[in-house]
Amino acid sequence: MTDWSDFLRDFHQRHPGITEDVLAHSHFTGRSPYQWLVEATTPSARTLDLACGSAPMAAEGRGRPWIGLDRSPSELSRAARHPNTAYVVGTASHLPFTDAAFDVVVCSMALMLLEPLEACVREVERVLAPGGRLVALTPGGGSVLTLRDQARWARLLVRLRRARLTYPNRSAPSSLVERASRGRWALLADERRRFAFEMERDGDALRLVDSLYLPGVDPRRLPRARALARTWVGSDLGIPLRRVVMVRRG
Ligand SMILES: C[S@@+](CC[C@H](N)C(=O)[O-])C[C@H]1O[C@@H](n2cnc3c(N)ncnc32)[C@H](O)[C@@H]1O
Repeated sequence: MTDWSDFLRDFHQRHPGITEDVLAHSHFTGRSPYQWLVEATTPSARTLDLACGSAPMAAEGRGRPWIGLDRSPSELSRAARHPNTAYVVGTASHLPFTDAAFDVVVCSMALMLLEPLEACVREVERVLAPGGRLVALTPGGGSVLTLRDQARWARLLVRLRRARLTYPNRSAPSSLVERASRGRWALLADERRRFAFEMERDGDALRLVDSLYLPGVDPRRLPRARALARTWVGSDLGIPLRRVVMVRRG
């Protein structure tokens, strides 16, 4: 049984900004996943970047009132390179903000990590003003991948002796979408896209493997996974992503 809390703390201390290092170099029709996410927000909205990590979203949301929160001080020290943006160390289940303080909450690649999910979603409901938006990016499942992507991911997982990638709460995005049918939220969009991560150099292949959460994987498997990823340099790998946009009803 994985102790996710300890694993994630240690992972983000060792690899601050690794998610940004992969996703900022991935694209779908010329846009990064972060640009795709910010397109679903409303301009000049008071925005909370929940579990902001190294704050790649802050660069996209430049010019609007923006605050990032994350529980990893290492991630936030990398985030500090963005000027004129405030960051807070904190946890999603106890947000240090007043009721209705924000018009938008963005949550990039973190919904599936938030525990307990119920408490975190209640906090998002509390800090969002009525009519405010929750805009989330999460792993998207294999349906948008090409056959080559699927074969590559399968071979990578075999090298890691893993059946699939895991998260503390894999079903968090879907359970959030289900809420939309229960009254407090309205679902505006639920979309999936394939983002191409371009592997131009060996370093890109290494970063890809390092960016994966692999609790319990025998570290001796990692060089084999990296060696496989290096054979893909000069091409791309599809990363499936999902964007969920929900409105908090008044
Ligand atoms: C995969 S990274 C995503 C970072 C950034 N949003 C991005 O898209 O590049 C997940 C982030 O969630 C943060 N995190 C995980 N659980 C959290 C919680 N309960 N409260 C606040 N931050 C959390 C981690 O510290 C990490 O920075």
